Amino acid sequence: MSAPAPRPRVRADIDRAFLEDVVAGLSATPKTLPSKYFYDAAGSELFERICELPEYYPTRTERALLQQHADAMADALGPRVLLIEPGAGSGEKTQLLLQALDRPAAYVPVDISGEYLAEVAHGWRSQFPHIEVLPVAADFTQAFSVPRVTATPSRRVVFFPGSTLGNFEPSAARQLLSAFRKLAGEGGRLLLGVDLQKDVSILERAYDDAAGVTAAFNRNLLMRINRELGGRFDLDSFAHVARYDDTHHRIEMHLRSTRDQVVSVAGTAVRFRSGETIHTENSYKYTPESVRALAAAAGWRAQARWLDPDCWFGVFLFAA
Ligand code: TRP
Repeated sequence: MSAPAPRPRVRADIDRAFLEDVVAGLSATPKTLPSKYFYDAAGSELFERICELPEYYPTRTERALLQQHADAMADALGPRVLLIEPGAGSGEKTQLLLQALDRPAAYVPVDISGEYLAEVAHGWRSQFPHIEVLPVAADFTQAFSVPRVTATPSRRVVFFPGSTLGNFEPSAARQLLSAFRKLAGEGGRLLLGVDLQKDVSILERAYDDAAGVTAAFNRNLLMRINRELGGRFDLDSFAHVARYDDTHHRIEMHLRSTRDQVVSVAGTAVRFRSGETIHTENSYKYTPESVRALAAAAGWRAQARWLDPDCWFGVFLFAA
């Protein structure tokens, strides 16, 4: 008799958490879904395409800031740093920073999608051939451990670009920055990219592009529920909605049911009225001052900042 195949434990745990979060979110009023589930392999690829859209200014604005000021950033960070990137993307922005850094000890990209990590890890290694790359598959909102690094780092630097901070509620954002403060330790630094408040029409276009890539990204969440949880969402009867909420300073992303319908999700019947929405994401927009205050509340001291001429986006350096 052959031994039973080992149970893929991590995978099963993630699926159960996904199922529980989906059922809880769709049972709530108003309905919500946690945005971290956007980023499976298909979602991560759609997101890479969003970053190159003409309407989506944050990526290219932040990239220009890194291109222009990488040397100043590297000077401020010093030699032999251990660079940790929670929610690492393709590594393209990180390359600009790593190239400027003086003999970095290692690069630790952290991503929730093990599948995506496996696909891009090879790319990181060829982009950074002289740097030890130690990918970690983890949900960075939970504690994770940093692998052993061969060289002895001078300090830890948490690199958190892409305005991902804006996707957290302000109180959760403060908690996350506190967790980064613990992760960075004494002498640690935080290099944080944050999207700033601006004209509403520019913001809304960035989250509802003409080519429909952001809409596809939003709907991928339903596709993923169909695929992984046996959901029965009819994708054509959910419309992508992006609107700016002026009082909370946030872009809200929704999926709006275009008709009355009942959708079965893993044995649960979920009822939608025509026009009812699932709230899938927020993207909070800050001011340089509100970023500073939030970080200060999490134990970070402002050291430097770099803004583009229009003040659309900021890269902020904090010390523990
Ligand atoms: N951090 C990005 C942002 O808030 C994430 C993002 C961009 C996003 N476009 C999106 C998330 C569309 C959900 C849907 O700008």
